[in-house]
Amino acid sequence: MCGIVGFVGKQEAAPILLDGLARLEYRGYDSAGIAVYSPQDGLRVVKAKGRLQNLAEKTNGGADVHGCIGIGHTRWATHGEPSDVNAHPQLSESGRFAVIHNGIIENYAEIKEFLQEQGVTFVSQTDTEVVAQLLDHYYKDDMLDAVVKVLHRIEGAYAFGIVCEDCPDRLIAARKDSPLIIGYGEDFNFLASDVTAVIKHTREVSYLDDGDIAVLTASGVAIYDSLLQRQDKARHQVDWEVSAAEKGGYEHFMAKEIMEQPEAFRKTISPRIQEGAVVLDGLCFDRETLERMDKLYIIACGSSYHVGMVAKYTLEKLLRKNVEVSLASEFRYCDPIVTERTLCIVISQSGETIDTLAALREAKRLGARVLSIVNVVGSTIARESDDVLYTWAGPEIAVATTKAYSTQLSVVYLIGLYFARILGTVNGGEYAAILTELQALPEKMEQVLAQKETIQYYASRYFNHESIFFIGRNVDYAVGMEGSLKLKEISYIHSEAYAAGELKHGTISLIEPGALVVALAGHTPLFEKLMSNVVEVKSRGADVLGVTVASRGAAMEKAVDGALIIPDTLPMLLPSLEVLPMQLFAYYVALMRGCDIDKPRNLAKSVTVE
Ligand code: G6P
Repeated sequence: MCGIVGFVGKQEAAPILLDGLARLEYRGYDSAGIAVYSPQDGLRVVKAKGRLQNLAEKTNGGADVHGCIGIGHTRWATHGEPSDVNAHPQLSESGRFAVIHNGIIENYAEIKEFLQEQGVTFVSQTDTEVVAQLLDHYYKDDMLDAVVKVLHRIEGAYAFGIVCEDCPDRLIAARKDSPLIIGYGEDFNFLASDVTAVIKHTREVSYLDDGDIAVLTASGVAIYDSLLQRQDKARHQVDWEVSAAEKGGYEHFMAKEIMEQPEAFRKTISPRIQEGAVVLDGLCFDRETLERMDKLYIIACGSSYHVGMVAKYTLEKLLRKNVEVSLASEFRYCDPIVTERTLCIVISQSGETIDTLAALREAKRLGARVLSIVNVVGSTIARESDDVLYTWAGPEIAVATTKAYSTQLSVVYLIGLYFARILGTVNGGEYAAILTELQALPEKMEQVLAQKETIQYYASRYFNHESIFFIGRNVDYAVGMEGSLKLKEISYIHSEAYAAGELKHGTISLIEPGALVVALAGHTPLFEKLMSNVVEVKSRGADVLGVTVASRGAAMEKAVDGALIIPDTLPMLLPSLEVLPMQLFAYYVALMRGCDIDKPRNLAKSVTVE
């Protein structure tokens, strides 16, 4: 939530900041602003409600704002409606300090009252303005000293970028619980929420840790811990291309990312399969350790949680161990039964989701070992886990995840096979069969994606519906949850997903003539059961769009109004194929409804506030 970027160097800062913000816009997009300092104009702040485009127009692409040092912000509103005045940067009353912030200052009301009693006038409803005003309050003649005092006084989560008119050669960055990186260049340096904002200019980055404070000038970066001890921060090389975070001819990032899935899946599994076995470098689990684990606890949010739902079926089947799945936002407040005999598997694309991070910390506090499945290299969740397996999906920009979901699933299968072999819970024949089919999935995914025109046709038939139901059993149910989420996220159609067996306990009362039911029936062991539910909803007038595998295609086609047939696979691996038509259906429906697909209303990709 919220993207921040800061630049100090020898070039004009404003166009660089705007370009960085464009790459961070997926983090929040209800307003944006920049503050740039030049000796002639002092600290100049320009802000605009709405998409970044408005800010670009207001500043003539940055060309009207001069200076070689500045900060920029793209906002997802928490405190105060989206407006010019609530947009960041927030200024102190003296105009000396400008602050950009991602996170929430929890004790802002109390500090605001304190400052108001001292006569300070506030202009915005934001928690961030409190920080700018407090900087003024503590400032004598040392910017860093004022920042440290503020950090001691505030509570909550933050990634800050701060500029001070009195020290126009430097930016200060600070973080706690919200992501922040430093990008290093020749004669310039950056701070940013993530590497996408800086990759065009530099590949050399450091990831700040909680409590870190960085002072950036054009010639160098000094990083301190919360006790102001100098830190020697490791520098990393980002290895993906700038084009990976660009649309590459597609109308939307989501369309590009959907089509990239077979390749991303291949990239994630191939290096980890060697000589007929899964090899997970860096993971050290022996039989004794795994046997001691009496429970696996999967923790995630959003679509990553839906991967967790699939993982429960997969891992319980392969490992014969109890697997619980919890939404991270529930886990942290439910007094979970977690011990040192629990293995927690944390799933997160961004590696920064605040609830997931907090749940990870809670699990570790309770003694669990944490293995995470993460896409963003160097993210906080990856760094704080005992073990991490990266999904090699590359940057995912569309708010609605697709390729991260698919690659997370692929890692779940790898973990299942890897542990099953150590524990001896699958025999050699089964193991080889699953592995062979796993390797065949990317090609089958390509076959499903090749049906995009058929899916587009169904979307054109149903895009005007106001309510759509997804039903399925076992992994079909888990995929239905994801299909329903995709649809509501980007098309704003009300949608619900149900375990088909639960229909008769309530939801069937909503089925009336013309209602659309998407019936997921790829899980062949339960095909007949699901088809009984299809008959029940059809008898009540529903239109049914059925999805199943080729071997059940004829039976499905006879029973429904529209059918999507995907290749047969092992029931366990089915979600990897079945989710694809769900993503495409949501995409085309949203397209036909004229929605802003990559930036759906009220959402942001990286949820870094609670
Ligand atoms: C947001 C995104 C979803 C994502 C969820 C969890 O809601 O829009 O696509 O599934 O956060 O994010 P994570 O980065 O932890 O997987």
